[in-house]
Amino acid sequence: MGCLGWKYQLFCLLVLLSLLFHFPSSSSLSAVSPCSALLHFNHSLSLHRDASQMCDISYPKTASWKEDKDCCSWDGVVCDQTTRHVIGLDLSCSWLNGSIHSSSTLFFLLHLRSLNLAGNDFNYSLISSEFGKFKSLTHLNLSNSMFSGKFPYEISHFSSLVSLDLSFNYGLLIETPVWIRVIHNLTQLRELLLDWSDMSSIRPNSLMNLSSSLTTLSLHGCNLQGKLQHYILCLPNIQTLDLGVNSNLEISLPKCNWSHISLKFLDLSETSFSGKLVDFIGNMNSLKNLNLVNCNLTGSIPTSFGNLTKLTSLDMSFNNFNGLLPLSLLNLPNLSILYLCYNQLVGFLPNHVSGFNLIDLSLNSNFLNGTLPSWLFNLPSLVTLSLYGNQFIGEIGEFKSNSLEHIDLGYNKLQGSIPRSICRFVNLTYLSLSSNNLSIMLELEMFSKVKNLKLLDLSNNNLVGINNNVTYTLPNLQLLNLSSCNISEFPIFLRAATTLQLLDLSKNRIYGQVPRWLGDVGRDSLLFLDLHDNLLQGSFPTLSFLSLRYIFVSNNKLTGEIPSLICNTSSLDVLDLSHNNLSGVLPKCLVHSNVLSVLDLRMNSLHGTIPATFSKVNNFRNINLNGNQLEGSLPRSLANCRNLEVLDLGNNKIKGTFPYWLGSLLKLRVLVIRSNKFQGHIGNFKTKFPFSNLQILDISNNEFNGPLPRKYFKYLKAMRNADEEKVVLKYMGDEYYHDSLNLMMKGLYIELVRIQIVFTTIDFSKNSFSGEMPKIIGKLKSLKGLNFSHNNLTGYIPSSFGNLSNLEWLDLSFNKITGEIPTQLVNLLWLEVLNLSHNQLTGHIPSGKQFNTFDNDSYTENKGLCGFPLSKTCNNPEAKKPPPLTLQQEDNIESQNGFSWQAISMGYGCGVIYGMLMGYLMFKIGKPKWIVKMVNLE
Ligand SMILES: *[C@@H]1O[C@H](CO)[C@@H](O)[C@H](O)[C@H]1NC(C)=O
Ligand SMILES: *[C@@H]1O[C@H](CO)[C@@H](O)[C@H](O)[C@H]1NC(C)=O
Ligand SMILES: *[C@@H]1O[C@H](CO)[C@@H](O)[C@H](O)[C@H]1NC(C)=O
Ligand SMILES: *[C@@H]1O[C@H](CO)[C@@H](O)[C@H](O)[C@H]1NC(C)=O
Ligand SMILES: *[C@@H]1O[C@H](CO)[C@@H](O)[C@H](O)[C@H]1NC(C)=O
Ligand SMILES: *[C@@H]1O[C@H](CO)[C@@H](O)[C@H](O)[C@H]1NC(C)=O
Repeated sequence: MGCLGWKYQLFCLLVLLSLLFHFPSSSSLSAVSPCSALLHFNHSLSLHRDASQMCDISYPKTASWKEDKDCCSWDGVVCDQTTRHVIGLDLSCSWLNGSIHSSSTLFFLLHLRSLNLAGNDFNYSLISSEFGKFKSLTHLNLSNSMFSGKFPYEISHFSSLVSLDLSFNYGLLIETPVWIRVIHNLTQLRELLLDWSDMSSIRPNSLMNLSSSLTTLSLHGCNLQGKLQHYILCLPNIQTLDLGVNSNLEISLPKCNWSHISLKFLDLSETSFSGKLVDFIGNMNSLKNLNLVNCNLTGSIPTSFGNLTKLTSLDMSFNNFNGLLPLSLLNLPNLSILYLCYNQLVGFLPNHVSGFNLIDLSLNSNFLNGTLPSWLFNLPSLVTLSLYGNQFIGEIGEFKSNSLEHIDLGYNKLQGSIPRSICRFVNLTYLSLSSNNLSIMLELEMFSKVKNLKLLDLSNNNLVGINNNVTYTLPNLQLLNLSSCNISEFPIFLRAATTLQLLDLSKNRIYGQVPRWLGDVGRDSLLFLDLHDNLLQGSFPTLSFLSLRYIFVSNNKLTGEIPSLICNTSSLDVLDLSHNNLSGVLPKCLVHSNVLSVLDLRMNSLHGTIPATFSKVNNFRNINLNGNQLEGSLPRSLANCRNLEVLDLGNNKIKGTFPYWLGSLLKLRVLVIRSNKFQGHIGNFKTKFPFSNLQILDISNNEFNGPLPRKYFKYLKAMRNADEEKVVLKYMGDEYYHDSLNLMMKGLYIELVRIQIVFTTIDFSKNSFSGEMPKIIGKLKSLKGLNFSHNNLTGYIPSSFGNLSNLEWLDLSFNKITGEIPTQLVNLLWLEVLNLSHNQLTGHIPSGKQFNTFDNDSYTENKGLCGFPLSKTCNNPEAKKPPPLTLQQEDNIESQNGFSWQAISMGYGCGVIYGMLMGYLMFKIGKPKWIVKMVNLE
């Protein structure tokens, strides 16, 4: 709704005309009656509830403005008693929507002392220099109202300004000339709030020159850069200081007289404020609220915190604090919020504490141990109790209070069962006891009053039974996780779970046909369904696929075809039906999807061809069809999958020549086409940098022939310089789906459950390649495995192989390789498996290092080899040696790290949950700080 219709527009026009008619010259414009100016200002904007959606309470104040009345009585308008000038205008959270141009009649209100337009939507208006006309302003609040651009220079006219709030106009630019004015001219300033504006060009030390009357300074998320060395904390009157979320701001605590500091609120979260916290923080005894989240603080928490008796809220989560949890903290009389999660604290919780006002207690993800003390269960006002990810033992006690809303005791070593007292928690929404040693009898009666329960996670415990004879249901349940609970049937109470979004019953013993009613569970709401690792039989469940985004039903015994109903999903992102016995053809619609990112149908009995219907623009990241009976040739439209990272088509009956055209997929890391019917030479390629990101290339067991493709090896950049140290713990895949593969490794067929992104292998075995092995392979320094066995290769083993310093297995067996084993191979310190058997190698087997660990099997059927470990000794140690070879310099392609695996940093306090499913999934997969993708709920 941009406007209110033509009649209204006409009215606006008439008002404007009347103003112009009566007051044609701009100098006399100031004489416009303030009431008409207000009215016209109001008419220049429209009302839109969404414009104030960030406000807790909002209503359209101007809707009650009546032309026939004196504007001094209007809602939000304040007039001077004697002069009748409009001196105050408060239209905060009033649904206003539209632009404020410099011609706005707002600027006729020259006597304004206080102006508050916060919490509206001014449609990215620039803040007009006309604001400078309000020379008498003492209070200006334009926060949270969608202003943009630069803050104007005319700010310097506000020399009486006491309070300036421009916060939450994301990216509003504050530049140095304006900032200097603020410092020099706004000497009366007591409150300055510029959160989330862009102050990247402002020198942090200039903050020190701000008015000494300042009581509030809030520069949260302003992208301040550089060192703040000086005494900002020592400003004599400062009470609220928020410099949080300025990750490039280096803060060091100054040495001033801390006991004089009246600071009540201090937020230095997510700044470069690292190192040890010094003891004198205990002298800031006015402090009520301290936030040091994600600051890389180390050492122990100073016991002097026990002196901060006024403290009500303390958040120091996501640091590296170690040592004991200071017991004095738990005795602070006024503390109601204590977040210390994601640190490395050790020790027990004390048996007695005196502070009983805790409302939120989050100590999760530390190394705390011992039993849960009884006071925990007696805290009368406790709302959030989050202790997950510690090492607590013993039983969960019975709670005395009813106020709890959020309980997470998951990932400990707790025993016993669910406390009975939970049945009284009428406001409980979140209950996770996942991954303990609990023996749970799931009796729904217990939850009969807990009508608000949204999340129930009992996974990874021992469910001794479910009382399936229930009439009661959990009407608000959104997430249910009973994974690894040892259950053998679908819980019937699910039947009525109409609002379910996530259902995880994976890793149980649920057997037989999927009940029909499962299709109605969360009919319009279910996003995530995980039934993998069960004993499900029969045809694929007839689900309502409408809202599903993630389907995991792998490792069951499903038969029949993939139902065409699956084509009804519009937002399916991950489909994993691997390791079942599904037959029929691959549905065209799946291939045609432009949303699907993971299609994992490996190890089924699908037949027919791969449909040639890949969309021009699609989202595929992983396509795994390994172990089916697919035939025909590869559709060229696969080359449309520009985001593809993993393509595994192994163990099918696909034919054709080598799909060199996949080389244009710049993100491709894994290409497996082993055990198919591909044939012919691997010829030249047409794209410029083919396969530059490839790390796993397996074309074994086909009918390829001709020479090894020397030029390809030249371009396999990702196999050259994986930076091991940086990426060693990164895996392929995203947080929902971990890429996995079946591969020959070290002579065994192994399922790699997760693929480290430094894992690089080449397998060309079991083809009919002939000719020599190119020396350039020696440049693929990141290679862990190289298999050329069972071909017709001839010539020497290039001495450059001695440069493959990461190689763990090398199999060149069953070829016609001649000459000696180059002594350079002794340098392969990680080599565990070496197979050179069945060749025509001659001469002395090199000795030393790893070579002392290989046995006869590595060398059998090479008539000319001699020396350890063979029994044949060498008669002539001066036997003919292959000419020394050096690595060719010609392929001096500049190094470029192929891996751009960037996670998005998402700092969040441990008390905050961003959309339940998101927060839940984050810890479900154990990546608390780094997530790659966000799911938006509701
Ligand atoms: C700064 O404030 C002083 C009064 O305090 C005023 O005279 C001067 O004009 C202001 N500077 C500017 C550039 O407006
Ligand atoms: C954290 O602090 C330590 C020293 O206290 C430092 O070595 C490390 O680089 C810091 N890490 C980050 C991410 O700032
Ligand atoms: C608390 O403050 C007092 C007086 O300032 C001091 O003597 C004492 O050592 C402090 N306690 C702690 C634990 O730092
Ligand atoms: C508890 O943690 C402390 C400190 O890490 C350790 O010394 C102690 O052995 C642990 N106790 C138990 C029972 O695990
Ligand atoms: C439950 O929540 C309501 C609304 O916030 C509150 O009024 C009530 O006191 C709470 N009940 C308990 C037992 O805490
Ligand atoms: C199921 O519950 C009803 C009412 O609670 C009871 O009468 C009935 O005996 C129960 N049935 C079984 C098999 O436990």
